Amino acid sequence: MKTKHELFETLNPPQRLLMGPGPINAYPRVHQAISQALIGQYDPVMTGYMNQVQSLYRGVFETQNQQTFLVDGTARSGIEAVLVSLLKPGDKVLIPVMGRFGLLLSEIAKRVGAEVKTIDVVWGEVCTPDQLEEAIKEFQPKLLATVQGDTSTTMNQPLKEFGEICQRYDVLFYCDATASIAGNELKVDEWHLDAVSAGLQKCLGGPSGSSPITLSDRAAKQINARKHIEAGIRAEHHSEGADAMIQSNYFDLAMVMDYWGPERLNHHTEATSMLYAARECARIYLEEGAEQVIARHKQAGDAMAAGLQAMGLTLFGDQTHKMNNVVGVYIPDNINGDAVRMELLERFGIEIGTSFGPLHGKIWRIGTMGYNARQECVLTTLAALESLLIKHKAAIVQGQSVIAAMEFYHG
Ligand SMILES: Cc1ncc(COP(=O)(O)O)c(C=O)c1O
Repeated sequence: MKTKHELFETLNPPQRLLMGPGPINAYPRVHQAISQALIGQYDPVMTGYMNQVQSLYRGVFETQNQQTFLVDGTARSGIEAVLVSLLKPGDKVLIPVMGRFGLLLSEIAKRVGAEVKTIDVVWGEVCTPDQLEEAIKEFQPKLLATVQGDTSTTMNQPLKEFGEICQRYDVLFYCDATASIAGNELKVDEWHLDAVSAGLQKCLGGPSGSSPITLSDRAAKQINARKHIEAGIRAEHHSEGADAMIQSNYFDLAMVMDYWGPERLNHHTEATSMLYAARECARIYLEEGAEQVIARHKQAGDAMAAGLQAMGLTLFGDQTHKMNNVVGVYIPDNINGDAVRMELLERFGIEIGTSFGPLHGKIWRIGTMGYNARQECVLTTLAALESLLIKHKAAIVQGQSVIAAMEFYHG
């Protein structure tokens, strides 16, 4: 007898306004791009798109790095690819930890077998250049691995001086810019970054599932020294790298670089629809212009923060280092944060973020990113949150929040 499988209903997700720390609503043009026809991975049109994506992301990352391409997977695939490809067991890596994502870098580096030293920063603050220099002098790492915007705390780590310090001590410099890219300044070449990985689902305004990365020539050289082409696709002209083989096949950036390069090595099948999305995200960013997009994120972030403060709420963390695109706010006394979030979703269709670790249940995180870094998204969210807080009898200032936010938008 044939098993009857339930078909469920046709996919029809609700329209939500995603105002959490990411994912966010994608730009409509990105949705259009994703739905375009599939083509074969070696179709000259496809390889042409791959070259375009490399060029576009050099613009986004503000770099001349030849090795700029996509890792297929969510943002942590980019992180893992960089760390497993750069670090060998026993290599020393220094990691400032100022939130959940610093802990993630440390976790991945440990799995790779690296010797990890962390600089533990109080959540809500950033690591100072002096702290970093002292730790580098003492530990003498091969690699400094940082998070630019740690979404868990909303802090934006300044990187310019870190780059100068790494240059001085000849340390490779990697940064996870998933949550900060396109909403906060990021100058890969000027700040001497050797490797940066990102994701689409924050200020770039796309879905999660693709991780743009860039590698300096010296990082690429170290990775290529570990090149080991898998047997089924190895040809006579391939030679083994002198250095230890990379411990992951999927994240072996030496092979991935050869897929994106003239060799077009058949390492994996590029995620075509995600490449279309990534391409459109970059086009939108570069078309509007880096300065304008970042200013738009700052305007929306400032308006949201001002609106929350006008309600009498307290913001979380050192505000001088707040990311432009997400704000942490203390949940008012006697309010069940998760219940309010759920009601916001069910009644208004608006999603805001909870938080992790020591901050869970204490703060909400509200994002204004990519397509949602717009006045109407800020005002709608504030109005809805205020009305629910009134309903839940929170001790807040009434009627000022939206007005305060509107001050940031004239005309
Ligand atoms: C700073 C940062 N790094 C990494 C990640 C992981 O991204 P993904 O969930 O796409 O793997 C996130 C996701 O929120 C993030 O905010």
